[in-house]
Amino acid sequence: MSHDDFPTDDPAVVTCGLPYANGDLHIGHLRTYVGGDVFARALERLGQETAFVSGSDMHGTPVAVNAEQEGVSPEAFALEWHERYAETFPEFNVEFDNYGHTHDETNTELTQQLVRDLDAGGHLYEKEIMVAYDPVDDQFLPDRYVEGTCPYCGAHARGDECDEGCQRHLEPGEVEDPVSTISGNPAEYRERTHKFFEVSAFADYLSGFLDRLEGTSNARNQPREWIEQGLQDWCITRDMDWGIDYPGGGATASPREGGETAEQDLVLYVWVDAPIEYISSTKQYTERVGAETFDWEAAWKEGASDEHPEGGEIVHVIGRDIIQHHTIFWPAMLEATAHAEPRAVMASGFVTLDGKGFSTSRDRAVWADEYLEEGFHPDPLRYYLATNGGFQQDVDFSWEKFAERVNTELVGTVGNFLYRSLLFAHRNYEAGPQADAPSDAVAERIEEAIDDVAAAVNDYSVRALGDAVTGLARFGNEYIQRNEPWNLVDEDPAEAEQVIYDCVALAKAIAVLFEPLAPEKTERLWTQLGEPGSVHDATVEAAREAPAATCASRPSCSSRSKTSASRR
Ligand code: 2FM
Ligand code: ZN
Repeated sequence: MSHDDFPTDDPAVVTCGLPYANGDLHIGHLRTYVGGDVFARALERLGQETAFVSGSDMHGTPVAVNAEQEGVSPEAFALEWHERYAETFPEFNVEFDNYGHTHDETNTELTQQLVRDLDAGGHLYEKEIMVAYDPVDDQFLPDRYVEGTCPYCGAHARGDECDEGCQRHLEPGEVEDPVSTISGNPAEYRERTHKFFEVSAFADYLSGFLDRLEGTSNARNQPREWIEQGLQDWCITRDMDWGIDYPGGGATASPREGGETAEQDLVLYVWVDAPIEYISSTKQYTERVGAETFDWEAAWKEGASDEHPEGGEIVHVIGRDIIQHHTIFWPAMLEATAHAEPRAVMASGFVTLDGKGFSTSRDRAVWADEYLEEGFHPDPLRYYLATNGGFQQDVDFSWEKFAERVNTELVGTVGNFLYRSLLFAHRNYEAGPQADAPSDAVAERIEEAIDDVAAAVNDYSVRALGDAVTGLARFGNEYIQRNEPWNLVDEDPAEAEQVIYDCVALAKAIAVLFEPLAPEKTERLWTQLGEPGSVHDATVEAAREAPAATCASRPSCSSRSKTSASRR
C-alpha cells in the first residue's frame, strides 16, 4: 500500500461488508453496497486497477438462529439467501468482480490456513471461560443464542454485541442476566475451554495503524477509545456445529471427573472467517480472470510481489456498527500473518425511514425487491443514497425528499442539460457539430470536474462525486443559456456550432464522470453519443478527448482511439 493520492500504481481492492445470509435486503443495507460500488467505479474512472469484492456471510448465530426458527438446516437456509443476494445486487447495478460466500472451499481453506499461521506465530492460546448454557434444553448459547444486559452501558444487548447501546463487541460470558433467545429460559454460565487471539499484544501496532488509516473519521477516531480503555484478547472459537472447524482439532478441555482430558469440537467464530472472505473473493476473481489482469497475492500479501512489496490499496466499505471488527480485530489478524494493511475504512451511517429506525419485525423498511417491483429505476436510488448526506452521517429516507432530489438534480439539472444540447445537436448537425477543440472555458471546466472527482475519491466522499457532476451539468445549462445557440444559428453559424460542440463535449464528460453513480443511464448516454465501446471502460482521459459525434470529418479524431481497459 502507498499513501499516495489515487490513482496509484498498486492494485486496489474495494470490499463491502458481508451481509449475513439471513433475510431480505433493504435500502439501509444498499447504502453501504451502493457506496462501495460507486467508490470502486470512481477509482476505475481515475485509472486505478481495482477489484471490487464481497460475499455472503453464511456462518454464525445470526444465520443459525434464523434457520432454527424456520426449521431448516443453516446450510440450506444460508445458500438460498446467498443466491438471492447474488441476483439482487446487480439489479441495483452493484457489480462485484466476485461475490462469493464464506462457506465455500476457497474461504474454508484460506481461513484454516490463516488460523494455523496465527497459531504458528504464537498468537493463539487456550483459556477456560464461562459460556452461557440452557440447562433445560441442554444447549450452549453462543452469541445471538443469548441476550441480556450490556455490562458497559446497561442497555439490552445481544450475546456478542451491544446493538442497542454502546455498540461494543461483547465477549462470551460478558452479557449479564443471560436468557436463551430460542427457549426464553434463563441461562447459566458454564466453564469451557476456548481459543484466544492475543489482540492486546497488537495495541501499539493498532495505534500506529489508526494514525495511518484513511477513510471516514468515525472509523479513524472511535477505535482510539477502545485501545485507550485497554484491548481484551479475542475468543475465536464457539461451541457450535455450524461454521468452519477450528483447524487441527478442538480445544483440550479440563479433565473430567474420571481424570480424562476431553477434546471439545469447536468452530471458528464467524468474525474470523467473514473478513477472510475479502481475500478469498479476490482470489476467486484472479482464478477467473488470470493474475495478469488482477493478482490477488500482490494485493493482499506483503512481499508477494517486488513491484508492490507492501501489497495493494485495501479499502473496506462497511456499516458503522462493525467498525471495531475492521479497525481492531481484522488489522491485527492481517498484521500477525504478513498481509497488507488496510489503507482506508469507510463506515456508513444508518438509514431511518421518515425519522424512525428500520424494523424488520414491524415491516418498517424500504425493501430492495419492493423498490424494483414498483418499477423504479435503480440509478436514481443510487444517486440519492450516495448523495443524501455525508457517507458517515445517519440519514433519513423519505419518498418526498427522494422525489424532490431526483426531480431537481437528476431531471432538472443533468437531464435537462443533456436533453437540450443533444436534441439541438441532433436536429441541426447531421454529421455532429464540428470544431477543432472545445473552447478554453469549457475545457477548463471539464478539467475542474475531473479534479473534483479525484478529490472526492481521495476524500472518500461519494457525495462529493455526485456534486462534481451536478456542478458540471449546472455549468452546461448556464453555458447553453448564456450563448443561446438557437439565436446564433442564423447570426453566426460557426459560433453556434462551437457552442454545441462544447455542449457535446460536456455531455461526454458527464457520461464518464457520472458513470459511478448512474451506470445504466450513462451507458445509454454513451451509446446515444455514438461513443465506441462501453462507458464502463472509459477513464477520465476519455472525458478530455473529442466526442465521437464531432469526428465525422476527422478520421484521426482522438475519440476513435480506444479507451483504456477496465473490468466493467
Ligand atoms: O455485521 C454483519 O452483517 C456481518 N455479516 C458483516 C461481516 S463483514 C466482514 F468482515 F466480513
Ligand atoms: Zn453497551
